[in-house]
Amino acid sequence: MMDEILINTANGVCTIQLNRPARKNALTAAMYQTLADSLRAVDAMPTVRVVLLQGHPDIFTAGNDIEDFLHSPPLQEDAPVLQFLAAISTFSKPLMAAVSGPAVGIGTTLLLHCDLVYASETAMFALPFSQLGLCPEAAASYLLPRLVGHQRAAEKLFFGESFTADEALDMGLVNRVVAHEGLLEVAQRQAERLAALPSEAIKATKALLREGQEGAVAAAMQREIARFQVLLHAPEAKEAFTAFMEKRKPNFNSHSA
Ligand code: COA
Repeated sequence: MMDEILINTANGVCTIQLNRPARKNALTAAMYQTLADSLRAVDAMPTVRVVLLQGHPDIFTAGNDIEDFLHSPPLQEDAPVLQFLAAISTFSKPLMAAVSGPAVGIGTTLLLHCDLVYASETAMFALPFSQLGLCPEAAASYLLPRLVGHQRAAEKLFFGESFTADEALDMGLVNRVVAHEGLLEVAQRQAERLAALPSEAIKATKALLREGQEGAVAAAMQREIARFQVLLHAPEAKEAFTAFMEKRKPNFNSHSA
């Protein structure tokens, strides 16, 4: 299990790598638990000044592991995915991401909690919650419209179609788009520059940037999970998940309310 999340700290930068390439870095409950525990631990470690999240060159993450998700849906308050979301949304130090390849579902929504996001020109983003019969999570229903406006957020969340790194840049979701082969070098360099700055000043700046929205983010997550749990048991989600497992297109016509 430990191998699916690789953690390495050097020069004040803790790099957390999603490492399950055979399943496109799809995230299981066990991986969420490791991520949540690790984030909480490194937030308290003076040697860590910056956290950098990354995937593999051809995949950031395919989002929730659908099979695992069906076996352990996030129905309890302490569900690992909810612990992970709480950890990233309250993390006190700079949180960075380097994205190349697809970043699906939570792979995109977690970026809303990062302070700096660098993407390679191969990065693709998608929010396919509706297609799966579900609704947004990670406070995306609150943060995304504030970042990009209601109509653009609605388009991304209704249709769930993937969008490019350039569009993500235009939306303000990423800071910079760089050549594929240079991504990790750029992200690492920026992380080390940040780690060399006065850490208390950086933490205070982050806290001030978030001031006033922390309660709203936590409340949005609560509203989302309440709806998510209802939708999860409805026929639309059952059809979407069954179709995914059977590798066919879902048919929602006979499942509309
Ligand atoms: N959950 C579980 N398994 C997943 C997965 C997921 N989210 N995403 C991919 N996989 C599995 C595939 O079923 C496939 O398994 P197989 O080798 O047994 O057939 C394997 O990982 C490789 O995936 P594949 O789809 O063949 O890779 P790809 O490079 O063609 O496409 C993605 C990559 C990420 C675009 C595509 O896998 C995808 O869209 N995945 C689903 C994303 C999704 O809906 N996530 C849920 C968000 S809440």
